[in-house]
Amino acid sequence: MCGIVGYIGKKNAVDVILKGLKKLEYRGYDSAGIAVVVDKELYIRRSVGKLCNLSASLEKNPVNANIGIGHTRWATHGKPSEENAHPHMDPTKSIVIVHNGIIENYVELRAKLQIYGQEFKSETDTEVIAHLIKKHYKNNLLHATQKTLSEVRGSYALGIVCKDEPDKIICARRDAPLIIGVGKGENFIASDIPALLPYTRDMIFLENGDIAEITADKIIIKDIKDNIINREMKNIQWDAAQAEKDGYKHFMLKEIFEQPRTIEDTFRGRIYPDEGKVYIEEVKLKEEYIRNISNIYVVACGTAYYAGLVSRFLFENFSKIPTEVDIASEFRYREPILNEKTLVVIISQSGETADTLAALRLAKSKGCQTLAVCNVLGSSISREAMHVIYTHCGPEIGVASTKAFTGQLTALYIFALDLASKKGKLTNEELKKYLKELWEIPLKISEFLKNTESVQAIAKVFAHKRDFLYLGRYVNYPVALEGALKLKEISYIHAEGYAAGEMKHGPIALIDESMPIVAIVVESKVYEKTISNIEEAKARGGTIIVVANESDKEIRDKSDYIICVPKTDEFVSPIMTVIPLQLLAYYISVFLGCDVDQPRNLAKSVTVE
Ligand code: M6R
Repeated sequence: MCGIVGYIGKKNAVDVILKGLKKLEYRGYDSAGIAVVVDKELYIRRSVGKLCNLSASLEKNPVNANIGIGHTRWATHGKPSEENAHPHMDPTKSIVIVHNGIIENYVELRAKLQIYGQEFKSETDTEVIAHLIKKHYKNNLLHATQKTLSEVRGSYALGIVCKDEPDKIICARRDAPLIIGVGKGENFIASDIPALLPYTRDMIFLENGDIAEITADKIIIKDIKDNIINREMKNIQWDAAQAEKDGYKHFMLKEIFEQPRTIEDTFRGRIYPDEGKVYIEEVKLKEEYIRNISNIYVVACGTAYYAGLVSRFLFENFSKIPTEVDIASEFRYREPILNEKTLVVIISQSGETADTLAALRLAKSKGCQTLAVCNVLGSSISREAMHVIYTHCGPEIGVASTKAFTGQLTALYIFALDLASKKGKLTNEELKKYLKELWEIPLKISEFLKNTESVQAIAKVFAHKRDFLYLGRYVNYPVALEGALKLKEISYIHAEGYAAGEMKHGPIALIDESMPIVAIVVESKVYEKTISNIEEAKARGGTIIVVANESDKEIRDKSDYIICVPKTDEFVSPIMTVIPLQLLAYYISVFLGCDVDQPRNLAKSVTVE
């Protein structure tokens, strides 16, 4: 997730772009850059770190221009550095672009260009687009862009400027947001509404496949085949605070609803279900090492630890590798049996959690191979781990982790499948089937999110309860733990997550008429067993709220409230079943009037022991 702003008109483009980027910093902040055209020359300025570094550099050496594009980066390909910061140029320095998204076939495209001797200055997937546009350029930037985009696979929001056509910005969109702000004698582009609100409330929301040519007085939208496209202009009434949250009341809610996209972004370019292929570019574990892995340790804290608990089922079922999962603050003080055949998987959204970082260092000191699943590029954990799989979720602002969890589950799922297939433990047909299951998840979550009324109604009924019990089994046991954690964190209600089969060994004593029990009972090999556990709880007077598959008729007699989710394969089901639990916690917190995004006593990143 990155932020893009572009301007053409009579104002100083630098001011408009910097102010706009400031509003988009929530989308990324590891580096920033700007490109403007003055007297048919391109001026580019880029800085590592937050936007203030770029602003300081521009204050020192000011530039004044009427056209420009800018970018604030949340890196996906290539570390945060000046070379990797946007904008990127073609080798002749005449075309410059900013990009938000992921180009899936950039390795292939770059290799083709390199055959003709083209040199690349960055490690990004983006630079290849600037090179391709130049290759196709015959005095018409729009046509060159259309040709380029017919060769590109992946997601993009693009802003493009050419020094030889200094009166226009070209922009394009596929699976990444892009808005045109319509002004009088000036026009704008941006990734999100807040960047443009100080200037205009008239906006055009580009759709997938749209390519627009924007001058100060005119906006023409076309498709790749040069057909004219008509898009309605909308007048935005939101205030600035609403706009930052995309119209949602809280960042947490926005982040819950972002999940279909963030999950897709995490597997995009890494899985090919039709061919049964997984390609995780950043992981360079040698085949011989993979064959000889003796055991896996997964280490993390909080929500990331629960993602780790799910991964144990994946590593053991798919790859047949013995796997242990530990809380980082425990792992670092016991004497884990580690050697060079142990793979240590470290999971952290922030990449800065002190205990998790210490666990990583311990594993390295024992000679283990270390692999991090991390959301923040350039963070300590991602820098120190030997291999990293980034979750491409963008900045998570709500303290309660939501989209990072499903991103972690996605990354771990594809890594476990990759490992299994490299070890020869999965046939190509099996791999195809499992990849297809993941591929379908974003759509299923989107379907579920279209109607959240049942969750809101349940939240209203139970918001004033003092205690909750969450039950799940097998791959959904960690989801029960995560559901309980979400409720505790943001509503301050006491909640316990339990393995449903373990309940009769103690916690069943807690159950009476006042105890709501949230149970995850989706299709899996433990379905019948979980039903029996629910019956035990119901027999003690507990009120049963189930997360179940839409098709499940049997569950209706055995529960008091049902939240229906689409059916999935059991191994991907945690990515689906956690969504209603995130929402339940959210709505309860709202009913209680709690501070959803910044709950008491908590910090987003725990950098102390
Ligand atoms: O940044 P990390 O993933 O390392 O953070 C780990 C935990 O602190 C984090 O998941 C915490 O439990 C969240 N607040 C949960 O919502």
